[in-house]
Amino acid sequence: MCFSLKLTPFIFSTMKADVLLGLQWGDEGKGKVVDVLTPRYDVIARFQGGPNAGHTLEFEGIKHVLHTIPSGIFHSTKANVIGNGVVIDPVVFKKEIDALLNLGVDVKKNLFISRKAHLILPTHRLLDAASEASKGTAKIGSTLKGIGPTYMDKTGRNGLRIGDLEHADFKSLYATLVAKHKELLGHYNYEYNLSELEPAFFEGVEAIKQLTLIDSEYVLNSYLANNKAILAEGAQGSLLDIDFGSYPFVTSSHTVTAGTCIGLGLAPGKIGEVYGIFKAYCTRVGSGPFPTELEDSTGETLRKNGNEFGSTTGRPRRCGWLDLPALKYAIMLNGVTQLIMMKSDVLSGFDTIKVCTHYMYKGKKIEHVPYDVVNEKIDPIYDELPGWKEDLMKVSDFDQLPAALMQYVDYIEQATGLPITIISVGPDRKQTLMRKEVAF
Ligand code: GDP
Ligand code: IMO
Ligand code: MG
Repeated sequence: MCFSLKLTPFIFSTMKADVLLGLQWGDEGKGKVVDVLTPRYDVIARFQGGPNAGHTLEFEGIKHVLHTIPSGIFHSTKANVIGNGVVIDPVVFKKEIDALLNLGVDVKKNLFISRKAHLILPTHRLLDAASEASKGTAKIGSTLKGIGPTYMDKTGRNGLRIGDLEHADFKSLYATLVAKHKELLGHYNYEYNLSELEPAFFEGVEAIKQLTLIDSEYVLNSYLANNKAILAEGAQGSLLDIDFGSYPFVTSSHTVTAGTCIGLGLAPGKIGEVYGIFKAYCTRVGSGPFPTELEDSTGETLRKNGNEFGSTTGRPRRCGWLDLPALKYAIMLNGVTQLIMMKSDVLSGFDTIKVCTHYMYKGKKIEHVPYDVVNEKIDPIYDELPGWKEDLMKVSDFDQLPAALMQYVDYIEQATGLPITIISVGPDRKQTLMRKEVAF
């Protein structure tokens, strides 16, 4: 299908955009499932975050990691939109584009970039690194992609946007902002060589200018008005949200459903299904509280079996059991309508599986995520369920799943009051089980 960008936003249509987002600390498997669901949609749109994201897709024996580009890009008849809420580093972006062009993906036809998306400058990356280095052991554990400083410039009303690339005086706008950044960098004891970084930045800028820049809020509303189905793809996870995550150990954007409205320019009433995606256990990369973290051989087994190493930074991910109070908190914040459980195969082999149902906090048993999770101790209280030994990687139908896994699924459905409609049993597209009796 070829997409016309003709704007018809005011025609009445009941079409709504569906959202898929992470309910934990990121890396839940969003890229994989967006790719699997793309055939049901016309448009895939990213609404926040930037190259801190690493979304992995596997099919036909090849693994792809996308950072800024929506995970629908491998489907040649679908439009992929980078929304206004995203921050774009031209350097990372060009690498992604080049890799896709090498694979024969027609990004010129299928990729559209919001003029209102903000630009990550090399000095944003330097500021990120300088800020983290100055924090010592209190560092956030940022991916160092310049995310925080770029969103700071956005809210501080200093930022540069994709639309600025169309101005003849872009270089002077760039120079003005860089001068400010150099002053800020002067406050840190941090050495840098900006002139080494700038050529790649300006090459990236040229690559972006070859693509289609759009007023994405009009285009997306117009798609809905024309009965096109949109899937919004979240980045990071709800527990890294700037407001609702374990502040300050968070990212700098709104990772929850409300972020879709802001990051794409869609009114709240235009949101349809909300797919909440979670791993059958938990991982976190970077610093910050993690109540169910396992710093023992069980955690090591999860890391090894799940290949839990960051898609963007390669850092080992911290691993632990499923945390129901945190999951329910994320479900509440997002208005999740269906759950998707990932990496079920990684739990194969345990005699028993633990699930955190409550926390002990300040001497009390609680079921909610309290305000101060950073300075106060949180001890998880667990239920224990039977494990299973079967290898799930070749299972192709829900009916073939071990009884103990189905008991685990039932248990989570009871606890959350939501159906688990997709279960993932391996990284490949094909290793995805859809529950026929619900929603699909
Ligand atoms: P995202 O950021 O949410 O898109 O997730 P990432 O791509 O960062 O991390 C998920 C990792 O798990 C990737 O390496 C995927 O290939 C892999 N993966 C996804 N689903 C499954 C699954 O069901 N089982 C296993 N074993 N790996 C999976
Ligand atoms: P995807 O989309 C997992 C984490 C970092 C750090 C914190 C702040 O692949 O799920 P930032 O670079 O935003 O300043 O880092 O957030 N983080 C992620 N963790 N998956 C991600 O994205 C992440 N993006 C950021 O590790 O703790
Ligand atoms: Mg990731």
